[in-house]
Amino acid sequence: MHKTWVEIDAESLRHNIRSIRAAIGNGRGIVLIVKSDAYGHGAQSVGKIASEEGVDRFAVAAVKEGIELREADITGEILLLHPPLDFETDTCIQAGLSPTVSSVANARLISDRADFGSVGVHVEINTGINRLGLDWQAAASEVQQIASLPHIDIRGVFTHFRGIDPSDSSSIDQQLQRFEKVVQAVRDAGIDPGLVHAASSHALSRFAQSHLGAVRPGMIIYAGLDPKSPITESTNGAASHMQSMTGVMSVYSHVLHCRRVEAGEWIHYGETFQAPRPMDVAVVPIGYGMGYSRHFSNNADMLIHGRRAPIVGVVGMDMTVVDVATIPDVAVGDRVTIMGRDGSKHISAFELAERSGTIPYEVVCRLGNGLPRVLVNANESAARAQSAQVAVTESAHR
Ligand SMILES: Cc1ncc(COP(=O)(O)O)c(C=O)c1O
Repeated sequence: MHKTWVEIDAESLRHNIRSIRAAIGNGRGIVLIVKSDAYGHGAQSVGKIASEEGVDRFAVAAVKEGIELREADITGEILLLHPPLDFETDTCIQAGLSPTVSSVANARLISDRADFGSVGVHVEINTGINRLGLDWQAAASEVQQIASLPHIDIRGVFTHFRGIDPSDSSSIDQQLQRFEKVVQAVRDAGIDPGLVHAASSHALSRFAQSHLGAVRPGMIIYAGLDPKSPITESTNGAASHMQSMTGVMSVYSHVLHCRRVEAGEWIHYGETFQAPRPMDVAVVPIGYGMGYSRHFSNNADMLIHGRRAPIVGVVGMDMTVVDVATIPDVAVGDRVTIMGRDGSKHISAFELAERSGTIPYEVVCRLGNGLPRVLVNANESAARAQSAQVAVTESAHR
């Protein structure tokens, strides 16, 4: 038992992976982004569940994250999204990760350190995000130099879009055109680019033409569709498969204390909320020390008995006070839903992000990495996956 905890629903994770697979169609791969401990969802358990669902490529940001996946017996390809620095190159190679190559110098370093066999790499092309990657104008000839190195095996070529909003569609078009030019030039030079990939969640949900050889989703797998970024016709029917995706992470707590506050009294630190009338309030043991942003002060709700309880006063390090005036019979020990569903009411990562002036990525990373995490529905969904597998095998034998 925990006072305040995060639940990761294995069944929802499986459902979201299947929805993305249905949306992109057979013959395309998924490179599942599991950096930052799978956006706070737990990279090892996400990796295992996704592997059972047939996902065989993962992406991390740090060598350590890749090693943790290997320790969890994840055998699929693990793409390291950062080019390895000198001091971590040997470990990266030993762990069997596929590093990103962002310059010819990166590739040389890797090739020099791999004194036997070859290291599989993915070459990133900068088509307009201007973060990592070979600049698209010179990329084709640089890919040729990389391909000629003795211990380098180009397993993939990819780009990353800077667009994250519905208004960014022209930048995605432009980046895609630049990327396709590079890939064509690489092929024309007689080099196999391997897996060609570009789309993260936003492009995946809105631009079917960006799906290419594989998609690279993170957030959409963990939280479903962004309500502010409605999917469009341009997804060529892929849209319908994605509508039913839901949030995988929920955050719960218990009422720690109940009190009546008289009219005119201030609630919690400082003087940010003064009771306008006698008020019943409840204290909930969560705060910014556990990843629950102080920006929720006087500015977000929790759910108790299926109803919204607004936060009154500031969010403390480990306690927050909510107004329960309109919720009858609230008692110490009652369950509080901080993110997730309670009856017909729902608080999503998207709502919390909007309330606190950030993006849902930060909400789930902070909560997931700040609180004890419990995996739920893991056995049920694993059993179902196994029986589905048996049914497929049986029908294949008939
Ligand atoms: C290179 C790369 N690809 C894919 C993703 C996944 O993005 P999203 O979570 O928006 O799907 C990220 C995340 O930051 C990334 O850096």
